[in-house]
Amino acid sequence: MTPAETLLKRLIKAEGPVTFRDFMEIALYYPEVGYYASRTDQIGEKGDYYTSSSLGPLFGKMLARQIAEMLDELDAETIVEMGAGNGTLARDILTELSLINTRANYIIVEKSRALTPLQQETLAGFDVTWHDSLPSLPSVKGVIFSNELVDAFPVHVVEMTENGLKEVYIGWAEGFTEVLNAPSTPALADYFDNLAVHLPIGFRAEVNLEALSWLETIASRLESGYLITIDYGYPSHELYQDYRRHGTLMAYEGHRAAEDLYTRVGQRDLTAHVNFSALAAWGEGAGLTVAGFTDQAHFLMSLGILEILSGKTSPGEIKARLNAKSLLLPGGMGEIFKVLIQHKGLASLPPLSGLKHRPQRTSCRL
Ligand SMILES: C[S@@+](CC[C@H](N)C(=O)[O-])C[C@H]1O[C@@H](n2cnc3c(N)ncnc32)[C@H](O)[C@@H]1O
Repeated sequence: MTPAETLLKRLIKAEGPVTFRDFMEIALYYPEVGYYASRTDQIGEKGDYYTSSSLGPLFGKMLARQIAEMLDELDAETIVEMGAGNGTLARDILTELSLINTRANYIIVEKSRALTPLQQETLAGFDVTWHDSLPSLPSVKGVIFSNELVDAFPVHVVEMTENGLKEVYIGWAEGFTEVLNAPSTPALADYFDNLAVHLPIGFRAEVNLEALSWLETIASRLESGYLITIDYGYPSHELYQDYRRHGTLMAYEGHRAAEDLYTRVGQRDLTAHVNFSALAAWGEGAGLTVAGFTDQAHFLMSLGILEILSGKTSPGEIKARLNAKSLLLPGGMGEIFKVLIQHKGLASLPPLSGLKHRPQRTSCRL
């Protein structure tokens, strides 16, 4: 048994079934036993999954261009990255910002005590400060962003039954077992009511309540500026399609995805797709207005990734081209990954280069 499994088994035997949300929180973040709390080797070729920044510096370079444009417009210097993994993306962004002479007051908000020292090593020589949670941040005028943060928040799992909405709890009977019971909070039913989503009987879905409270905290810390959220997922009308009736939760280890969430707990990543309609709607409620929503391929192309790649023909450069292809592939990272930009406290919204290929939106209904 893994240390996380031992801990969860003891907890469930003592207190009864826990919500899937609490199971996932422990599996990923419980000090010393959780996947993000105990390990530092998750990302890249030798890890469990690739993120866009592990495919070379181009992703960070493009994102830096968008951030620099925003800071310039705001006459500000503060950049907050939330959930910085191994620090590679921060390094690529800071490298590009110094090349284009953009001054930055770079702050990382990182929950994992194991990953923070690795980030500090990767970013030695750069001027960066760390916080372990958002509420400890001073008020921000600038840009707050994340890449693959929201999919890593622990989620509640619900299933629509003939007797109404039920929540998935995890019990123990010779192994972890799923138990359906009454929702642990009315916020789960309210979530679907607010989104005007009616789940058919038998349909399972995740509810990321953490993302909603995260947006409220962001809105309270952001005095004026932008929130850029990059992650994989869909708006409601695409997310709740019949072929996703079993939900979107997956476990990742060694670049293999598995639907079984209950083996090697604490040693594998657990993630769920992000509902961007929910981020837009709850953001709007908290005072964050949607500036635009696009996919990663259009975002990166709008910022000039193809121009950078054209003409790269030496062997090393060809590898960079192939990696960039992964960032842009339709049906892959280019399409499944989305970019949501929200803003607060601006007198008027200027055109944003990253949204050039997609109209900017003013409505929160995605
Ligand atoms: C999937 S990794 C993404 C890493 C990185 N952004 C990248 O692009 O490679 C998720 C990161 O978010 C961090 N994280 C998760 N929940 C967090 C929270 N509530 N506050 C701050 N960091 C968090 C994890 O510890 C990890 O560093």
